[in-house]
Amino acid sequence: MSSKVPVARSIPVLRRTIAGFRAAGKTVALVPTMGALHDGHLALVRLARRHADRVIVSIFVNPTQFAPHEDLTSYPRRFNQDAAALSGVDTDLIWAPTVDVMYPEGFATRIVPEGAAFAGLEDKFRPHFFGGVATVVTKLLTQCMPDAAVFGEKDYQQLQVVRQLSRDLSLPVKIIGAPIVREKDGLAMSSRNVYLTPQQRAVALTLHRTLKDCAAQIRKGRPLRAVLAGGSDAITNAGFALDYLEARNAGNLAPVSSRKDGPLRLLVAAKIGKTRLIDNVAV
Ligand code: PAF
Repeated sequence: MSSKVPVARSIPVLRRTIAGFRAAGKTVALVPTMGALHDGHLALVRLARRHADRVIVSIFVNPTQFAPHEDLTSYPRRFNQDAAALSGVDTDLIWAPTVDVMYPEGFATRIVPEGAAFAGLEDKFRPHFFGGVATVVTKLLTQCMPDAAVFGEKDYQQLQVVRQLSRDLSLPVKIIGAPIVREKDGLAMSSRNVYLTPQQRAVALTLHRTLKDCAAQIRKGRPLRAVLAGGSDAITNAGFALDYLEARNAGNLAPVSSRKDGPLRLLVAAKIGKTRLIDNVAV
C-alpha cells in the first residue's frame, strides 16, 4: 500500500508524533539516512519494520561529517523522490530537520568517539568523519528515542562506531546491522554511485570482485599478506587510487596477521576519478 508519508521538520512535531505512537503502545525503529535513497536504504526500512510497529526514516545531509574539500554541496538531494520511495515501503514518519534545527545558532556540543573510530581505516582518510557521524547519530537517537535503529553494513566501521557509542552512552536502543545490498553485478549500492561515468561504473565492479576473490583465497589458507598484496594490485591496475584494502577482526576492527585472529572482515576504500567508494565482505 502506498500513501503519502507524514513529514516532521521541527522537534515539537517530531516529539508529538512519536508520543502518539507511544501512547498507542507501539514500538519504534529509526533508519537514519542522508537521503538519495536506493534499494539498499529501502531494505533497511523493511528490516526496521520487522523489529518495530512504527518506522521513522530520517533524511538529513549532515554537514559535520564532510570535510571542506568533500562533496557536501553536490551530494544528491531529492526529497520528493525519496518521500515517494518511502511511501512504497510502509514508512510511518520522515524526520527531515533543516541544518538550523539540527545545529541551532550557538550549538557547541560534540561527541568525540574513540575505539573503532580510530581503527586506521576510514578515520585515516576522513579524520573529521566519525566525530560528525557520532554527533548527529547521538542527536537522532535522542530525538527519536527508538527501540531499534538500523544501519547498513556497507559503512562497516560506522556501524561499529555507532554500536560502541550507544553502549557507552547507555542509550536504550538496539543497533541492528543490515547486510549490504548489491546491484546484480555485485557493486554495493551507494548514493554516490550516481557520480560514476559508464566507464567508471564498469571498473567499479573490480572492488567487490577482488574482495570476493581475496576472501576465497584466505579461506583456502593462503597467507593474508600475499592475498592482500595481490588484491591491492588488482584494484590499482583497474584504475583505482587505493586508500586501503585490509583484513580486520570483524568485531573490533583490530589489525590481524592470520585467519586465526578472526572472524575476519575485508574492507576496501578506493577512488575512481573523483568518486570514493567503500565496500567490505566477511571472510
Ligand atoms: O550512513 C549514513 O547515511 C550517515 O552517515 C548517517 C548514519 C545517516 C549519519 O549522517
